[in-house]
Amino acid sequence: MIQVKDRHFEVMVSAEQLQKDIAVLAARINEDYAGKEPLFVAVLNGAFMFTADLLKMVTIPCEVTFVKVASYEGMSSTGQVEEILGLEADLTNRHIIILEDIVDTGLTMTELLRNLRDFRPASVEVATLLLKPECLKFPLSIKYVAREIPNIFVLGFGLDYDGFGRNTRELYCLAAPEIKVQSELNIL
Ligand code: XMP
Ligand code: MG
Repeated sequence: MIQVKDRHFEVMVSAEQLQKDIAVLAARINEDYAGKEPLFVAVLNGAFMFTADLLKMVTIPCEVTFVKVASYEGMSSTGQVEEILGLEADLTNRHIIILEDIVDTGLTMTELLRNLRDFRPASVEVATLLLKPECLKFPLSIKYVAREIPNIFVLGFGLDYDGFGRNTRELYCLAAPEIKVQSELNIL
């Protein structure tokens, strides 16, 4: 159990299991993108740790760049995704792999994909550390999913609760007694 701000969290996925999940994904990417020199576009802030660990296992020639997505609500998963900040790389004719920490309703990813297509890449796929399949509201095909999880608020390994808790090797979820209050927290 750990405490982050006013909430308690318990280990959901161990550090070892996360590394195994990421290794499986990296192996698939190494095979699928051989000779394609993919450009990874990592979505900040949450994907920074996933990106660092995945890229250490990617053995083919590749590049990586980082973007931030600005949304109206900021904290809420229902917020409108407004724009891409800081995209400096030239995406034209490149094979893009977007790296995300988590896909929940899919709104963020849907908007990001829509925006990136304007840059005329050769191809775009998504690799996400986590997917909450029960929560998907937008039709999305996500080729690379390291792990599917139920609809529980998670934290750690890059994901935060109100800015805190990103700095762990394991993935945590709200401790069982606190899950019932998840909907009141507005922390997604
Ligand atoms: P959508 O609904 O656009 O949401 O797919 C994706 C974004 O919502 C955040 N999110 C979470 N953050 N623990 C978190 O720390 C969670 O369980 C969680 N679920 C969604 C996250 O910022 C993601 O980019
Ligand atoms: Mg995120």
